[in-house]
This record gives sequence, C-alpha cells and structure tokens, in this order.
Amino acid sequence: MMLEQQFALDRAYNTPATDYRRIAVAPLSGACGAEIRGVDLAGTLDDATVAEVRRALLDHLVVFFREQALTPARLAALARRFGELHVHPFAEGMAEHPEILVVRKAKTDRFNFGGEWHADVTWSETPPLGSILYAERVPAWGGDTLFANQYMAYDALSEGMQRMLSGLRAVHSAARVYAPTGYYAADEYQRMGGTQVRPSEQARREYVHPVVRTHPETGRRCLFVNASYTERFEGMTREESRPLLEYLFEHAVRAAFTCRFRWQTGSVAFWDNRCVLHNAINDYPGEERLLYRATVIGERPA
Ligand code: SIN
Repeated sequence: MMLEQQFALDRAYNTPATDYRRIAVAPLSGACGAEIRGVDLAGTLDDATVAEVRRALLDHLVVFFREQALTPARLAALARRFGELHVHPFAEGMAEHPEILVVRKAKTDRFNFGGEWHADVTWSETPPLGSILYAERVPAWGGDTLFANQYMAYDALSEGMQRMLSGLRAVHSAARVYAPTGYYAADEYQRMGGTQVRPSEQARREYVHPVVRTHPETGRRCLFVNASYTERFEGMTREESRPLLEYLFEHAVRAAFTCRFRWQTGSVAFWDNRCVLHNAINDYPGEERLLYRATVIGERPA
C-alpha cells in the first residue's frame, strides 16, 4: 500500500502509435498491453503484418487478439514466424506437437500452472523471447492473467538502486518448481488433471543472468528477476540475497505497472518474456481452463 502511494508516473508508457497500416492497436492499461484487431491468426500472415505485430509487441510488451480459431499446428506455425520454438523439458507438450505446452486446470484441481509472478523459462541459457497462449476453454468467471512492465519497474527505482543492481547478476534455476523437492512434485500436484509435470533432478541446474538486462530490440533497460526462478545473487548466499530479492519481487509487480487480461474462448496473448512478468490468477474453483502455449526461444540476456 505504501509503495503505491509513493509511486508517481513521470512519463507516459503504453501510448498508442498511429502509424500501423495492417493492424489496429488499442492499449489496455497505462502500463502495458494492447489489443490488436484486424488480423486472422489462422490465415497465412504476410511479412508486413508479422512485422507490425512484432512492433506492437515491442511497443506494448504484451498483445492480445480476440475470436481466433487456432489448431495446435497453426499455433506452432504462427509462433515460428517469430523464432525457433522451445520444448519444455519438465512439463507436458502435446503428443503430436511437443513444442505446444498444455496449460490446463481441471474442475477438481486446486492448483494451476503459472499461478505466481514469473517470466517463462529464465532457467535456461537463452530464456524465451516470448510466449503465445491460445484459449480453448475458459472458466465462466475468473482465470484472468496479469502482466507487469519491467521497464517501468526499473525506471521507478532510485538512481542509487539502479546503479547497484546494474553491477549484479542473479542465479536462476527451475529447482523450486520442477525439482523432485519442488512444489509441482507435491502429491496434490501430481494428482492434478491439469498440466502434467515431470519433476527432475535436472531442474537444479543453475544459470546466471544480469539483474538488469538491456532489451536486444528496444535497447531499453529492464529488471530481470522473478519470484519463481531467481534463487540468489551471484557470489552471495540465499540468505544474503533474500531481503533485496523480496523487495524487487514486490516492487516489480506494483499495480501501476500492470494490466489484466480477461480471457474468452479464442483469445490469444503474446507476451515479450524479456521485459514483462505474468501471473495466472487461480480464482475459479470447480471450473475448467484449457489453453495451449507456444514458446519462442530468445537470446542470452545481456
Ligand atoms: C503461463 O505461465 O504460461 C500460464 C499463463 C496463464 O495460464 O494465463
């Protein structure tokens, strides 16, 4: 609460550009997110349309489409227009499309997949450029996804904190989530009818990334830590790292940095995983939610 009171925007983020020719772009909040209209993602997109979608992604960090009709093959083909696809080593892909992750919560499940603020797969050498999520079945209420702008999170820090963080690197791993001792390995998760996960010792592997990264396409600096996968600062213990990391996890997702997306069947979200965090809200007990995700591999953060 105090944090929100102390924060004031000193420049506009997420303002609409007017020079799109192939698509219409309507911003969703003052922080990030825009709905794109005038595109049928199931069709073959020409290069100019793909370039404009990519520009909208860079401008708005996460873009949304409504009333789409994507098959898994079409989703994979769409995602490949933006780069090579990632196959998740610890979570279920579709039998015929291992590169398509099944994001599912069954009616009887208590937990959901991705229900914590995070960026995808930061426990890898080259964390994703972005993910494209397509909604097949959505709950009658709830099940929204939140997104948080990490340029804003960085810009809102004091100069002293920005300077200090710029010299730090952080250790990321999937252990807290996907190791045999991780939370997806708990009995209740394993009984889920939802996304099937394969806890593994491999999840303990560690990767080091800068705490503040420079976005390779926009050249802007953003915060690059997340509560799910950032373990500690390089060269420090977990205990030493925790207070500052906890502060950053909380700071990174201030309400003023976020937008909230309400899903409908046929909705698509495409987020830039390099500069945005997301959180799937688990507020729909007794309802089913089924989405498919294609994840585009990115570059080594610098
Ligand atoms: C994810 O983290 O990929 C899942 C997001 C969602 O289900 O909204």
